[in-house]
Amino acid sequence: MHDENKQSLPESLPENPMQTVDDWLNFAKKNAARPNPDAMILATCGRSGLPSSRVVLCRGLVTDPGYLVFFTNYLSKKGRELVDNSKASAVFHWDQLHRQIRIEGQITKSPKSESDEYFAARPWPRQLSAWASHQSEPIGSMDDMQKKVARTAKKLGLDLAKLESGGLAPADIPRPEYWGGYRLWISSVELWAEGANRIHDRGLWTRDLNMDDDSGIQTGPWQSTRLQP
Ligand SMILES: Cc1cc2nc3c(=O)[nH]c(=O)nc-3n(C[C@H](O)[C@H](O)[C@H](O)COP(=O)(O)O)c2cc1C
Repeated sequence: MHDENKQSLPESLPENPMQTVDDWLNFAKKNAARPNPDAMILATCGRSGLPSSRVVLCRGLVTDPGYLVFFTNYLSKKGRELVDNSKASAVFHWDQLHRQIRIEGQITKSPKSESDEYFAARPWPRQLSAWASHQSEPIGSMDDMQKKVARTAKKLGLDLAKLESGGLAPADIPRPEYWGGYRLWISSVELWAEGANRIHDRGLWTRDLNMDDDSGIQTGPWQSTRLQP
């Protein structure tokens, strides 16, 4: 088991980095000095070859076989880029913990059942927002956006005034087809721990990922190496 309080990595790097990634994420959540310790910067790169990055929340790490989960709009800019190129990278940075995790890999959509479950657990105003927002599409003004939310609520049969004043739970709001989870299957992990005088500790693990027939992923063995700061 990795010593979560120790800044540097063990002298002999573990064969599989996933437990340490999990430990670092959990440690960051326990020692959260900011509202979203599970925020990661996700970079995608579509056909243009110009990378784009934005913050998303990491809603899960499955250490075996090794992927991260996040939720978004499949028709957003990132969603469209992922159709053209399913490779992506993510970075976590916890300034107060002097740690960074860099991830690279391959994206697949989460199973629909997983997206349904996550969507169903969200508060209704966020479910409504997912319906109302065609994420990354232009809108004239915030007022137009609020009107769009109100129109969407009506279409879904929600009485917003009643819901907001009475705290009534609306009838089930189904998940829009275009909103759901992605899995970022990890082919490369770098754990970075800050050292004195810029002599940081960096462990890099890589492995092969192979898509199998039903869009599952086969994972190869990990190779590890230490990098100069
Ligand atoms: C702290 C934080 C958390 C966010 N979490 C998410 C998220 O989990 N999913 C999401 O789609 N957008 C999230 N966003 C908004 C994205 O950064 C981004 O604006 C949005 O996904 C549209 O990106 P795109 O146009 O590149 O697709 C978050 C933003 C911040 C600042």
